[in-house]
Amino acid sequence: MRPLAISISLLSLLPTPSLTTFFYPHPTASLLEHILVDTWGAYASNFSSAITPCDRYVTEVGAAAINSHRTTSAQWLRVAFHDFATADVGAGTGGIDASIGFETAREENKGSAFNDSFTFWRPFVNEFVSMADLLAVGTVMSVHLCGGKYIPYQYGRIDATEADPRTGVPEVGTSIEATLAQFEQAGFNQADAIGLTACGHTIGSVHAGGFPEVLEQTLITSNNTNGASNFDSSRAVFDPLVVREYIDNTGARGGALVTSYNETNRSDLRLYASDGNKTMLDLYAQGDGFQDTCVTLLERMLNTVPSSVQLQPAITPALIKPVNVTWDVTSENQMVLSGRIRLLYPGEVSSDPVSITFSNGYTEMLVPEDGLGTSAFRLADSQANATARYLSFSIQSTNLLEASSFTIATNGFEPQVCQIQDEGFVIPSMTNLDNGKVSVTVATRIGNIDFDASQLAVEIGAPVAQPLTLVPKIIRTVVNLGEVESPVSNLRYWSGSAVIEAPTGAVSVGLLYKGDVIDILLLDAAVAGW
Ligand code: HEM
Ligand SMILES: *[C@@H]1O[C@H](CO)[C@@H](O)[C@H](O)[C@H]1NC(C)=O
Ligand SMILES: *[C@@H]1O[C@H](CO)[C@@H](O)[C@H](O)[C@H]1NC(C)=O
Ligand SMILES: *[C@@H]1O[C@H](CO)[C@@H](O)[C@H](O)[C@H]1NC(C)=O
Ligand SMILES: *[C@@H]1O[C@H](CO)[C@@H](O)[C@H](O)[C@H]1NC(C)=O
Ligand SMILES: *[C@@H]1O[C@H](CO)[C@@H](O)[C@H](O)[C@H]1NC(C)=O
Ligand SMILES: *[C@@H]1O[C@H](CO)[C@@H](O)[C@H](O)[C@H]1NC(C)=O
Ligand SMILES: *[C@@H]1O[C@H](CO)[C@@H](O)[C@H](O)[C@H]1NC(C)=O
Ligand SMILES: *[C@@H]1O[C@H](CO)[C@@H](O)[C@H](O)[C@H]1NC(C)=O
Repeated sequence: MRPLAISISLLSLLPTPSLTTFFYPHPTASLLEHILVDTWGAYASNFSSAITPCDRYVTEVGAAAINSHRTTSAQWLRVAFHDFATADVGAGTGGIDASIGFETAREENKGSAFNDSFTFWRPFVNEFVSMADLLAVGTVMSVHLCGGKYIPYQYGRIDATEADPRTGVPEVGTSIEATLAQFEQAGFNQADAIGLTACGHTIGSVHAGGFPEVLEQTLITSNNTNGASNFDSSRAVFDPLVVREYIDNTGARGGALVTSYNETNRSDLRLYASDGNKTMLDLYAQGDGFQDTCVTLLERMLNTVPSSVQLQPAITPALIKPVNVTWDVTSENQMVLSGRIRLLYPGEVSSDPVSITFSNGYTEMLVPEDGLGTSAFRLADSQANATARYLSFSIQSTNLLEASSFTIATNGFEPQVCQIQDEGFVIPSMTNLDNGKVSVTVATRIGNIDFDASQLAVEIGAPVAQPLTLVPKIIRTVVNLGEVESPVSNLRYWSGSAVIEAPTGAVSVGLLYKGDVIDILLLDAAVAGW
C-alpha cells in the first residue's frame, strides 16, 4: 500500500504528531481496515483467500489439501484460543500477544495450526501491523466469512518478545477443576468457558494423527490423511450445530471430545456437563442467538491483552477512503499529487460524479475505474455485501499552491475533508529496496524560511525473522541523508541508503521533521497482497 501524505482531521484515533498523520486515520487502522473491508474483487487484500472457501487448507495444495481434512479457518480460531489461554487477568499478563509463536513445542500446543497460521500471516506484518493484531483479525474474519457474525474489531496489540512464562492451555486429559481454574484465571467463569468452547468447537476437527489418546488411528486413510473427526456435521460453518447435535444426540453428538473411546479424554463432555448441561441447554434455547453469544465471548477473548496494552476503538468501514495518496516527481520533473479514493456503497454503486476540491479553491472531477470490489460487510441494513468503487486523481503541484486539505464530495455521502502537507515527502519513484539495500530520496520544499535541515531524518522499519518463532520482529534503522542536486526549482533533494536484513514483509520508510513523522512510504517487499 502506498503512503498517504495526508491526514483526516475528523477522526484521529491515536495521539498524532502536530503536522500530519498518514493513512486513514492512522497507518495501523488503515491497513487493518483494508484487510477487514476489501474482501474480494478490485484491490482485495488477499487475506481472506486462505479461508475461501471456508473448508480450504491453505498450507497444502490440490489433493493433498483436500485429503488433509485440515481447515485453515478453524486453525485461526484455535490459534487465538491458545494464545489467549495463558492470560492471567489478575496479574495483567498474557492474552493475545502472539507469544504462542514461541510456545509451539509445548505439549499443550501440539498440532500444526500454529505455524501453519503464522506462515500465512507473516508477510502481512510490518512496522504498523503486529502479528497479535493479525491473530485477532484472523478470528474475526473466520467467524464473519464462515457463517457467524461480525466481531467488533479493536487494534493495538503488541507482539511478545519471548514465550509467556505461564503455561496452562487446557488439555483433553486436564481435570474439570483444573480446566475451570485455567479459564477463571483468564477471566472466564464456568458458563463463559462452556460457551466459548462451544463457539470454538463449531468449526474444525480433532485429528487422530495428533491426538491418538482421543481418536483411533483407523481414522487415518488415504483420503483423510490426518484422521480428522469433525466437531459437528458442518465442519467449516460457524453455526449452532455443535450445540444442537450434543443436546439432541444426533450427527457428531458434540464431537470427538464428547464421544472419545477413551473416557478420560472426553474433555468437552466433562466441561459441557459440569453444570448439569445447563449452559448447553441455554445455548440450545437461544437458537441463532448463539451467534450473538459467540460474538460477545470471542470479542472478550480477543480483547484480553497484557495490562500494558491500550486497545484502540473498533474499526468501522470507511465510506470514503483515500488510498495511496502521495506526492511524487514525474520524469518531466513535475511535482504531482496522486491517489485513489474508495467509495463504499451499501448496495449497487452509483455512477454519480465525485469531486476533489482543495482548500485553495482548485477542483477536479475524479476519474472512475471499472473494477469493483466486494466486501463481506453489509452497510445500513442492506442485505447485499457492500460494493467498493475506485476513482483516481493526479494533479500538478502548480494547481495546489498553499493547499492544506482536500474535500471529497458526491451525492449521498457526507463530504470528507483530508489534510495534506508539502513541506517534505519521500519520493516514491526514487526510493526502493534492492538486494538488501534501501535507497531513499526525499524532497523538501524551498520557501519555508525556518527550515532546518539538521532536523530532517529518515527511519526505516523492517520486519525480519527471529529465532524460535515465525513472528517477525521489527528492526529500525536510521538513514543518514546528504543533500543532492535537485532538478525541480522549488524542491531540495536529500538522499541516503541503508543495508537491512532480508525483510519478511513491507518495509516502511518514515520521513521525520523535528521528531514528527511527516510522510511514510511502504515498500512492498513480499507477496503480502496489500
Ligand atoms: C477445555 C478447553 C478445550 C480443549 C481441551 C480443547 C481441545 C481441542 C483439541 C484436542 C482439538 C483438536 C486439535 C487438532 O486435532 O488439530 C481442538 C480443536 C479446536 N479447538 Fe479446542 N479445546 C478447548 C477449547 C477451545 C476454545 C475455547 C476454542 C475457541 C474459542 C477452541 C477452538 C478450537 C478449534 C477451532 C478447533 C479446530 C481446529 C482445527 O480443525 O484445526 N477450543 N480443541
Ligand atoms: C496502492 O499501492 C500498492 C503498492 O503499489 C498497490 O499494490 C495497491 O494496489 C494500491 N492500491 C490502490 C487502491 O491504489
Ligand atoms: C494470495 O493468497 C494466496 C493464498 O491464499 C496465495 O497463493 C497468493 O499467492 C496470494 N496472492 C498475492 C497476490 O499475494
Ligand atoms: C488423555 O490425554 C492426555 C493428554 O492430554 C494423556 O496424557 C492421557 O493419558 C489421556 N488419557 C487419560 C487416561 O487421561
Ligand atoms: C486412554 O488413554 C490413556 C493414555 O493416552 C491410556 O493410558 C488409556 O489406556 C486409555 N484408555 C482406553 C480405554 O483406551
Ligand atoms: C474416500 O472418500 C470417498 C468419499 O469421498 C469414500 O467413498 C471412500 O471410501 C474413501 N476412501 C478411503 C480409502 O477412505
Ligand atoms: C449432559 O448431556 C450429555 C449429552 O446429551 C449427556 O450424555 C449427559 O448425560 C448429560 N449430563 C447431565 C449431567 O445431564
Ligand atoms: C457476501 O458475503 C458473504 C460473507 O459475509 C459471502 O459468503 C458471500 O459470498 C458474499 N456474496 C457475494 C456476492 O460476494
Ligand atoms: C514453528 O516455527 C518455529 C520457528 O521456525 C520453530 O522454531 C518451531 O520449532 C516450529 N514449531 C513446530 C511445531 O514445528
